[in-house]
Order: sequence, then structure tokens, then C-alpha cells
Amino acid sequence: MGKKGKAAARERREQRRAEVTLLRAVPYEPHQRWWDLLAPAPARAVAVVTGASRGIGREIARQLALHGLHVVLASRDAARGRDAAVKLMEEAACASVEWRPLDVADAASLEAFGAWTARTHGGIHVLVNNAGVNFNRGADNSVEFAEQVIETNYFGTKRMIEAMLPLLKPSPYGGRIVNVSSRLGRVNGRRNRIGDASLKEQLLTDDRLSEELIDGMVMKFLEQVKQDSWSPDDWPQMYTDYSVSKLAVNAYTRLMARRLLDRPEGQKIYMNCFCPGWVKTAMTGWEGNISAEEGADTGVWLALLPQEQATIGKFFAERREISF
Ligand SMILES: NC(=O)c1ccc[n+]([C@@H]2O[C@H](COP(=O)([O-])OP(=O)(O)OC[C@H]3O[C@@H](n4cnc5c(N)ncnc54)[C@H](OP(=O)(O)O)[C@@H]3O)[C@@H](O)[C@H]2O)c1
Repeated sequence: MGKKGKAAARERREQRRAEVTLLRAVPYEPHQRWWDLLAPAPARAVAVVTGASRGIGREIARQLALHGLHVVLASRDAARGRDAAVKLMEEAACASVEWRPLDVADAASLEAFGAWTARTHGGIHVLVNNAGVNFNRGADNSVEFAEQVIETNYFGTKRMIEAMLPLLKPSPYGGRIVNVSSRLGRVNGRRNRIGDASLKEQLLTDDRLSEELIDGMVMKFLEQVKQDSWSPDDWPQMYTDYSVSKLAVNAYTRLMARRLLDRPEGQKIYMNCFCPGWVKTAMTGWEGNISAEEGADTGVWLALLPQEQATIGKFFAERREISF
């Protein structure tokens, strides 16, 4: 990109930030705090955030706690998770945060987490699927860890949703599921695009989208990786394994959000996904261009959006809808 292009991109970024700052106050006015109305004090609406001991997940947990929800901060690493929960509690007297162990790639861990949630809280109001891995950086594009990436980012998110769906409490405000995804998982992205025209068409057509299609796509990719026959002509070109996993998360969000809309009033669940941007966290080697606080913003906004504004089954970035 030339000097002019860079300046224009910077200007667009700054303009977007200014707009986001303006929007920040909107959904949080007292009369719109649906999550306070769910349960009289001292009970609070309950939010679960996965992979929350650090990075964007920790920040989403922090912001939800500051908005007055009780946050279950779930993480694999016990020491880091407990420490994060204690620090968030110390940060604000009003914060209510507890740590629970959860490995989203481990069926037994998911089951234990679900049983504990049902026993302890009876259910939850908000689920943020944030846990994720990416082993590539800079210009790397290794698929050495493709299985772990798909297992954690896509199947982990999917299994977590399946485990938590029966626990999302019915309420007039609707349950909320927010999936942390990435622009790298777009079908027709700037950096990444799917080469297979038929797959592309199926992924973007609501009536053709199915769980079988999404699972079949990731399994086909993993099979090609195993046989060393995958080609960047067919699959996303940048961070291919990670991008396929997020492409699947996006498609699954659209599919499930539509299914959940068929539920009767009072039992609806609103599901969306978002891209936090390029964020300074361990995943990017602290190389992003925005802080975890900024990266978490759209996720928290989606989790707390009042029902009448709830956009459903969409993909967001910087509090705006973007294309799949
Ligand atoms: N940073 C970015 O620029 C960026 C851009 C787009 C999307 N995202 C997405 O944002 C989310 C958070 O990423 P981040 O940037 O905050 O990265 P991060 O600091 O590396 O955090 C990722 C978190 O996920 C957890 N995790 C990984 N595998 C897990 C598993 N099997 N079960 C439970 N937790 C697991 C990690 O736990 P451990 O501490 O135990 O490893 C860690 O707490 C991810 O979904 C990522 O794909 C990030």
C-alpha cells in the first residue's frame, strides 16, 4: 500500500473509532438495562466467558462484571484463571466474578462444567464463546496444528453451545450467545476467499446451509491436510487452518441463530458473532493495533444489546454489521 493508501486507511480507522465512541453510551442507559431486570438484587444475570484468563476473554469478563452481571470466568489454566477472577473482583467493589475450569476441546470437562452450572446457578443468561488458538504469526502459514485449531475454535464452540443451550434461562429479554470470530473467516474477504464456487454458494445461501455442510467442509479440509493435498486455491490463503475454523464458526452462528428464532416468545436466544479486530494479545504476539479493551467492546455490546435492537445471526465488527 502506498503512502496515500496508508493515510486513507488511517483516516477511515480514526473515523470509525470516533463513531464507536459516540455509540458507546447508547445501549447502557438505565431504562435499557434488561440484565438488571431479570433478577431482583442481590441476584444477578449470569454470564459465562470461555478462555477468559487472559486477552480478549478476560477483558469481556471484566466489562460484563462492571456492567453488573455475575461472571463465570472459565479457563483451562487454573492458576491464571483464579488470579484473573480475584483481580477483577479487587478492581471494582461491585464486580462479582468466579473462576471455573473448562477445556472446550475436552468432552469430560464440558460435561462437568455444564453439571456445575446447572447445580450452582440453575442456568445462565449470556454465553461468550471466546476460547481459541492460532499457531501462525506474520507470514507463516503452517497447518501442522490444524486439528487442534479446528477442534478448539469450531468444534469447541459448537459443543459449548450444545451443552449450554438447555441452560440458557427463559426470559422476556432472550438469552444471548456471542461467538468471537475473525474477519479472516469471511467467504469473500479482502485477504481470504474460498476458491470453490459451489461451496461458496452453499455457505452463503440460507436454505442450503446445514450442519452437515459445515462439518463436512472442515473434515474435508482436515483430510486434505492429512494427505498433504490441500491447496490455497481452494481454501483461505492466510492462516488457512485458523481461517477455516472461523469460517465454520460464522456459518454455524448464522445457521443456529435462524433455528433459535423459531422458539416461542420468552424462550428466544439471540446469537451473533464478531471480529474483535487485530488485537494486542498473546495470540498476535502483542502485535495488534488495538487494545484488548477495544477488541472486547463489540462482544460486550452484542451481549447486552436490548431486545428491540437485537440483530440476529449477523457478523459484526466495531459495532457494525459486516458481510459473512
Ligand atoms: N487477537 C486478535 O487479533 C484476534 C483477532 C480475531 C479474533 N480473535 C479471537 O479472539 C479470541 C481470543 O483471542 P486472544 O487474542 O485473546 O488470544 P489469547 O490471549 O491467546 O487467548 C485465547 C484464550 O483461549 C484459551 N483457550 C485456548 N484453547 C482453549 C481450550 N481448549 N479450552 C479453553 N480455553 C482455551 C486460552 O487459554 P490458555 O491460557 O489455557 O491457553 C486463552 O485464555 C479467540 O477466539 C481468537 O481467535 C483474536
